Amino acid sequence: MKKSIKEILSINKETQVEATGWVKTKRDSKNVVFINLNDGTVCKGLQVVIDKETFKDLKTIDKLSTGSSVLFSGKLVKSQGANQSFELLASSCVLFGEADETFPMQKKRQTLEYLRDIPHLRGRTNTMSAVMRVRSLASFAVHKFFQEVMGFYYLHTPLITTSDCEGAGEMFQVTTLDLASVAKDKNGNVDYSRDFFTRPAYLTVSGQLEGESYATAIRNIYTFGPTFRAEKSSTTRHLAEFWMIEPEMAFYDLNDNAELAEKFLKYVLNYVLENNEEDIDFFDKFISEGLKSMLVDVINKPFARITYTDAIKELEKNNKKFEYPVKWGSDIQTEHERYITETICSAPSIVTDYPKEIKSFYMKENPDGKTVRAMDVLVPRLGEIIGGSQREEDYNKLLRRMRELNLDENSYKWYLDLRKYGTVPHSGFGLGFERLVLYVTGMQNIRDVIAYPRYYHHS
Ligand code: 4AD
Ligand code: MG
Repeated sequence: MKKSIKEILSINKETQVEATGWVKTKRDSKNVVFINLNDGTVCKGLQVVIDKETFKDLKTIDKLSTGSSVLFSGKLVKSQGANQSFELLASSCVLFGEADETFPMQKKRQTLEYLRDIPHLRGRTNTMSAVMRVRSLASFAVHKFFQEVMGFYYLHTPLITTSDCEGAGEMFQVTTLDLASVAKDKNGNVDYSRDFFTRPAYLTVSGQLEGESYATAIRNIYTFGPTFRAEKSSTTRHLAEFWMIEPEMAFYDLNDNAELAEKFLKYVLNYVLENNEEDIDFFDKFISEGLKSMLVDVINKPFARITYTDAIKELEKNNKKFEYPVKWGSDIQTEHERYITETICSAPSIVTDYPKEIKSFYMKENPDGKTVRAMDVLVPRLGEIIGGSQREEDYNKLLRRMRELNLDENSYKWYLDLRKYGTVPHSGFGLGFERLVLYVTGMQNIRDVIAYPRYYHHS
């Protein structure tokens, strides 16, 4: 097995090695050729030095350009240069594959917009490989937190579902019907008895409802999987296919829920900082200046808590600044979320107790009859990163709310059963994983933190 560049860079002693990877840059000087070789396992690559006088196969070196894949054999030696402690003094080179002048990364620093059109190649840029390394590490930290720190169980919830968790109707339909000739009954309705599941089915917008069924079986669970929303929005924070982490806990109230969300976010941020500082430094330098100190600050400071009602009072004083002025009862937009966390609270903020009209049917009603035990975690630069709530555990209250909202009782019968048999107070939340990756990398657009972004009018 060949060693990765990351492994080679950690050897730290003079020894014979074989290094494989892609040429990032090639610099030809009078007596030597310098090649920066990387295989994407690490931020800064390996410097390969070719001594023109002693190297036998200079013809192969001539063919190398940015993007070529190669194997260099030689000796790892102490470097004279300031940028690295060791470099590879090459004695031979095998060229696996050339990359001609049409290789898009031949040019220096392509824009992220341009790279979005070549998702199969953009992973070879420094920025995208750093994003993917951080993304992988952050996923690992999520599992570590829930399993090792909290003792939660990882639940796999279905991707195909017949119920709309958020009740927002933003679902992709799943069908095997031939759309060119859909059979209809005599009332003109689609005849779903011929469809695969014999009734309408969709891609899930959240694993929460199924998560609740197992929180009331094995106490504390979390999901971490793909989620689909047919939202027709083209913002820098929305995808049609994204990954969501949804813990669901029996016997947790809203306070416990908020405490967990804070502890969780801080854990993941800290884990990434401690285990991949090099990439965070890269983002700090090239993508978002001040990122690292901002992350350290978030990890060390307590999150602010504010109720929706208090937040609205503060926002109303500044309504002139907003594109959409607010009043009690209005849904808050990104501009307001950012104002709350960046200006009113100057810290990541947990906003609680929203009006029930702007939140989902399953949230627990407060004694005031107007608000529900909802919480959103807002962070500077982004706005909402987590949405969650304490759930309504009272069978009759939940049924009443579902009827008010005209939800189809039949398809939620199983969900009501959870309140019929051994109901418990319980809570949970959802973290959009790409929003977390945006936050920790300082990247600007959610389309650049997932390998193959799916969004409105783009797949
Ligand atoms: O606030 P949301 O809609 O909450 C739920 O889905 C609940 N069922 C979660 C729960 O209580 N178990 O979504 C949760 C989070 C948001 O805060 C946001 O971070 C992310 O999911 N999110 C999106 N991320 C990317 N693209 C989209 N279109 C997203 N919609 C939501
Ligand atoms: Mg939300």
